[in-house]
Amino acid sequence: MVHKYYPIRYRYNMEKLDMKYISLLILVIQNTSLVLLMRYSRTVSGQPYLTSTAVFLTEIIKIISSVVLLHFEVDCESRKTTEAIHEIFVRYLETLRVAVPALLYTVQNNLLYIALTKLDAATFQVTYQLKLLTTALCSVLMLNKKVSPLQWVALCILAVAVALVQLPADSSLSTMFQSPSLNMDQSIGLLAVVVACLTSGFSGVYFEKILKGSKTSLWIRNIQLGLFSMLFSGIGVVVNDWAAVRADGFFQGYSFIVAIVILLQAVGGLIVAAVIKYAGNILKGFGAAISIVLSSTVSYFLLGFQPSPLFLIGSTLVIIATLMYARFVPDPEPPEKSNNSTTV
Ligand code: C5P
Repeated sequence: MVHKYYPIRYRYNMEKLDMKYISLLILVIQNTSLVLLMRYSRTVSGQPYLTSTAVFLTEIIKIISSVVLLHFEVDCESRKTTEAIHEIFVRYLETLRVAVPALLYTVQNNLLYIALTKLDAATFQVTYQLKLLTTALCSVLMLNKKVSPLQWVALCILAVAVALVQLPADSSLSTMFQSPSLNMDQSIGLLAVVVACLTSGFSGVYFEKILKGSKTSLWIRNIQLGLFSMLFSGIGVVVNDWAAVRADGFFQGYSFIVAIVILLQAVGGLIVAAVIKYAGNILKGFGAAISIVLSSTVSYFLLGFQPSPLFLIGSTLVIIATLMYARFVPDPEPPEKSNNSTTV
């Protein structure tokens, strides 16, 4: 896609731009299919699988994939993979910082299974959009990102818009608010989503801060994250499900669908890492929203997709929110202060 005779700097920027949009697009496809399959895998009849083992296996797949990706990366830079992996253990103090998002992501990944066991996919998708706001808040507090008041309004509009876009065609605003009292299961599901939104915002921005704070390879960071996550999720298996594992085995209730869910979850983790690096966390939210609208527009023309009125309202709001966010950037700081702020 990038012409070989363009100056190197231009080519580099184009490649970065390509990576930004490609990674965002893949994230949306992965995300939409994962939520539907995860929900299906938890509701289909038969022996239920242990979600703690699924989270553990996901981490192992992510570590193996990151080692393979690192191998290709260092090959390009003519360095040895072993040297690169050595870095992980030599700089153990730095490595320890990665334990924080690793622990929180492990909690989050377990919570998502709980949420999707207790809530239907639409309610989950709607409430999980709160993470757009927690992410922006963490970016402001931890990365010194400047967000103007109207950009905050744009983020709120975006959260509502994505929720509308993701609702199934047969839902309407009146049915959404039909049952005023939640049952116990739904309350637990909602609590799980809210905590997952908090950990998502904090861990994403914390990981972004670590990535931007040094030149260490993304895949090394991912191996570090994966090693801690494997440890924490392994503890999760022992603490929550050890009796069940001993009685019916680690792979009880596994099926082809469960294997696909685990694989999609692992691929998703790698894509999230790339998106955080190339686009940043706030743009990750916007990119995902726009791509959902775009992919539905494409399927309208190619596959005869019939958009619901809520979908059309949501899509319009996504576009308005995006334009607003881009238009109302905060005023630049005076030069002597701007050294401290990080741009995302
Ligand atoms: O919803 P959210 O974007 O917060 O999801 C993040 C997901 O990506 C989590 O499942 C987390 O385990 C995964 N992840 C990863 N590697 C990273 C960053 C996130 O596997 N470097």
